Amino acid sequence: MTDVTMIGLGAMGSALGRAFVGAGHSVTIWNRTAARMEPLVSLGATAASSPAEAAEASPVTVVCIDNYDATRRLIDGSGMLEPLSGRTLVQLSTGTPAEARDLSNWLTAGGVNVLDGAIMPYPDGIGAEDAQILFAGPAELYKACKPLLDCLGGDLRHVSDETGAAAVLDMALLTHQLSNYLGVWHGARACEAEGLGVDVFASMLPSDDPAAHLAWRIHKSEYDNPGATLEVWNAALDRILDHATTASINREVPELISSLFRRAIALGHGNRDIATVIEVLRGT
Ligand SMILES: NC(=O)c1ccc[n+]([C@@H]2O[C@H](COP(=O)([O-])OP(=O)(O)OC[C@H]3O[C@@H](n4cnc5c(N)ncnc54)[C@H](OP(=O)(O)O)[C@@H]3O)[C@@H](O)[C@H]2O)c1
Repeated sequence: MTDVTMIGLGAMGSALGRAFVGAGHSVTIWNRTAARMEPLVSLGATAASSPAEAAEASPVTVVCIDNYDATRRLIDGSGMLEPLSGRTLVQLSTGTPAEARDLSNWLTAGGVNVLDGAIMPYPDGIGAEDAQILFAGPAELYKACKPLLDCLGGDLRHVSDETGAAAVLDMALLTHQLSNYLGVWHGARACEAEGLGVDVFASMLPSDDPAAHLAWRIHKSEYDNPGATLEVWNAALDRILDHATTASINREVPELISSLFRRAIALGHGNRDIATVIEVLRGT
């Protein structure tokens, strides 16, 4: 038996796995593409041969894959539900409040204890004092899991017993962040048009503001090895648009950002940093 199982070892899941191992927890891992398990195995994690075996290995399973639909298909299609019954699943993929509620209701009916979470930092911020992760679900369950989850960040918050609350706050915070980024992309172009370096603009912004980090990445054309790819951002934005549709909210703000993202992806920047959106505004 290990302390925790980590399912999904993309950029974010790998960072979560490293934090668990680094904190001294015994960790079982599973990833669809087996080769992605090797770095964590070399750090001491145990690779499971199937999702069901992984779920069987620990009292708590953390899932961080593309989205809720993929999570449900994985659990349903791999025989994971039975070993998860009577245990805890912490769901950390990005989605809408309705998706969080639907998945939680389905799992709860199968006897699984469910916490839904939303991660704010990039993978390299996991474990930092200011790393904010929001959780929704039964307060007692959060309390029981907190000693295990503490290594993921210094700013863990239980926001509500209502399962969709972390997801809706995630959408609000992401929309706020992306709206700030719109100003960075346009501001960078304004400076460039007048012969002023984007570094001057970047140095005007508070140094701990993600907007400043974005401006510096634009200045240095740092587009590769992103914390989250443009595709991952765009998938999150699609969830925000879906939520706006179902909740009858005006979609103009996310649609404007989405239009820029789609054009940057069409230019071939899908696996690169979100800073590449500047290339759409440059018309390159
Ligand atoms: N990166 C960030 O900064 C960040 C921040 C906050 C939240 N998040 C959220 O974290 C989640 C993962 O993001 P990421 O950046 O780690 O993405 P990523 O690097 O693209 O990794 C995606 C992961 O999902 C797995 N996966 C996708 N579809 C699957 C399926 N049908 N069955 C099983 N596994 C599947 C992939 O497995 P394979 O290796 O086999 O492809 C991989 O492990 C997303 O919901 C994202 O919104 C990311």
